[in-house]
Amino acid sequence: MNNRFKTYVFWSLLLGTSVVFADKMGMPTDAPASYEAECASCHMAFPPALLSAKSWQNVMSSLDKHFGTDASVDSKTQADITSWLVKNATTRQKYSETAPENRITKTSWFIRKHDEVKADVWKRAGVKSPANCTACHLYAAKGNFSENSIKIPAK
Ligand code: HEC
Ligand code: HEC
Repeated sequence: MNNRFKTYVFWSLLLGTSVVFADKMGMPTDAPASYEAECASCHMAFPPALLSAKSWQNVMSSLDKHFGTDASVDSKTQADITSWLVKNATTRQKYSETAPENRITKTSWFIRKHDEVKADVWKRAGVKSPANCTACHLYAAKGNFSENSIKIPAK
């Protein structure tokens, strides 16, 4: 066992599954510059492992009708971002469903993981929407959703 692996095992045992989970969700370091530029102005740049390849294709092929707004990009940018998202999409069976309405927040894993969050909490001014991951997950933009870095806005 090398040291890096030992450290990983240590933290995994200490923190339970959250480290493993957070690790797999992590933001890859090779994101095209266009991803930050085009996909992080209205909301955070979602880490690609939050959706399946099929779901990302669905999101990227309907940008002109994107949740009530027009988020279209030129065709080269669209191709670049799509291939990067698809390459880094989740490959884990448990998270691989095709997301209803192209929403991470409508997947069954998302609903299950958040079953303890009461309906009124999602509507608080400090939260606004379940899609607003950074409202509660302090390091969401890095793809870290560990239980240890959650702070739910009081109002
Ligand atoms: C002009 C603003 C805008 C831009 C630019 C934009 N989006 Fe969005 N996006 C939205 C809005 C609004 C929502 C719905 C948010 C909500 O329900 O709170 C959304 C939601 C999403 C969701 C679903 C979130 C959920 O509910 O699970 C995904 C995935 C997404 N966007 C991906 C992208 C990608 C990829 C890009 C870049 C190609 C992008 N967005 C660019 C406005 C934008
Ligand atoms: C209102 C606050 C809130 C918002 C907004 C929110 N979450 Fe969460 N999230 C939580 C809570 C609370 C948990 C449960 C933590 C636990 O298991 O104790 C959780 C759990 C998770 C987990 C499981 C973590 C683990 O270690 O098992 C993931 C992954 C996750 N959220 C992703 C997201 C994503 C992606 C978004 C945005 C699309 C989001 N969350 C939006 C509060 C929130």
